Amino acid sequence: MIRINENYPKLSSSYLFSEVSRRVAAFQASHPGAQLIRMGIGDVTLPLPPSVVSAFRDAVQELAAEDTFHGYGPDLGYDFLRGPIAEIDYRARGADIDPGEIVISDGSKCDTANIQEIFAHDLHIAIPDPVYPVYVDTNVMAGRTGSFRDGRYGGLIYLDSTEENGFVPDLPKSRVDLVYLCFPNNPTGATITREQLAAWVDYARKSKALILYDAAYVAFIRDPSLPRSIFEIPGARECAIEFRSFSKTAGFTGTRCAFTVVPRDCKAWDSAGGAHSLLDLWSRRQATKFNGVSYPVQRAAAAVYTPEGQEETKALSDYYLGNAKIIREKLGGLGFACTGGENSPYIWVKTDMESWKFFDLLLEKAGVVVTPGAGFGMCGEGYVRVSAFNKKENVQKAMQKIAGAAKDLAV
Ligand code: MLT
Repeated sequence: MIRINENYPKLSSSYLFSEVSRRVAAFQASHPGAQLIRMGIGDVTLPLPPSVVSAFRDAVQELAAEDTFHGYGPDLGYDFLRGPIAEIDYRARGADIDPGEIVISDGSKCDTANIQEIFAHDLHIAIPDPVYPVYVDTNVMAGRTGSFRDGRYGGLIYLDSTEENGFVPDLPKSRVDLVYLCFPNNPTGATITREQLAAWVDYARKSKALILYDAAYVAFIRDPSLPRSIFEIPGARECAIEFRSFSKTAGFTGTRCAFTVVPRDCKAWDSAGGAHSLLDLWSRRQATKFNGVSYPVQRAAAAVYTPEGQEETKALSDYYLGNAKIIREKLGGLGFACTGGENSPYIWVKTDMESWKFFDLLLEKAGVVVTPGAGFGMCGEGYVRVSAFNKKENVQKAMQKIAGAAKDLAV
């Protein structure tokens, strides 16, 4: 008899963004003429930059001719992409990373989920709350969390990110082997200082723990004092893996390209105390289960590192940050307390009512879709996340509609 993975029924019934889409579809079915403005899922709206499109097109053309055709690529990615990543994203900022420590993939969502396969099953895992739901859900699927009771999984250690700690979690009080951190943060938009990150690195080294550092939103950092990579912090090469993506940086949410950085010094231990290279394990996993990102997509991603690509992609994040500023100012002016939106495309807005209730009210009264904070964890209750990934005119229209509905939103 075929049987199921009994961890799946422990998941909440649907993935957060699927639930948001379901409610929006139901609303549209009952209000067929309603014009909605979507500021929920963080999906980019501007097209790929010209230098990226041109590299993409040229690479497709290469595939059309016998003497320039490419079949399977190198397991871990082409050197023409890994080299510039190491140089521009890391070495130019004083982070000692070489191209051989970079593994190209089709998304940070998959990488942050798949990486757990290389670790022991009975780890003490710490996850911030609120958090990008993929970290929690994939641990549930893998059977690492115990069951869900009173809003939380019994087997996880939750790191509360609240107004009181500036949405940067404190170091764990109990033993932790694996910890997820994401800065600029999804969903709160909060950033971490160099000193705060150094404290995490110090903690991880002392306790032989590993930090999974999701830096998918690094392109939005404008404050020069903030670290862009965990590898700017001395000692992080021994205790951290970093995830980055072209999705939000260069508009690749549909095109798909990302990378994971696993330094050679980063080790984990077997039950007999033997040390193993995590780069070797992750490379082995990827080579076995993944056949790489297509040649044209890797060429398109490499174009991000040309001088034109750097300028064009900065213009993309500048545009979304301009939207974020409008959102912060307008919502702040209406009396909502806002975090994020300065070095991040997300604005975390305090609602003073249950976040799903606020979501429904906003949909009904203003026709604006946001993401309810409770979907990111217990500490997200009473907040919504507003995404700046939209056209400026839509953002302005949404702010007018929210202002018009303010009396219904209890501000
Ligand atoms: C989000 O809205 O949180 C993101 O779009 C999720 C993702 O990048 O997978």
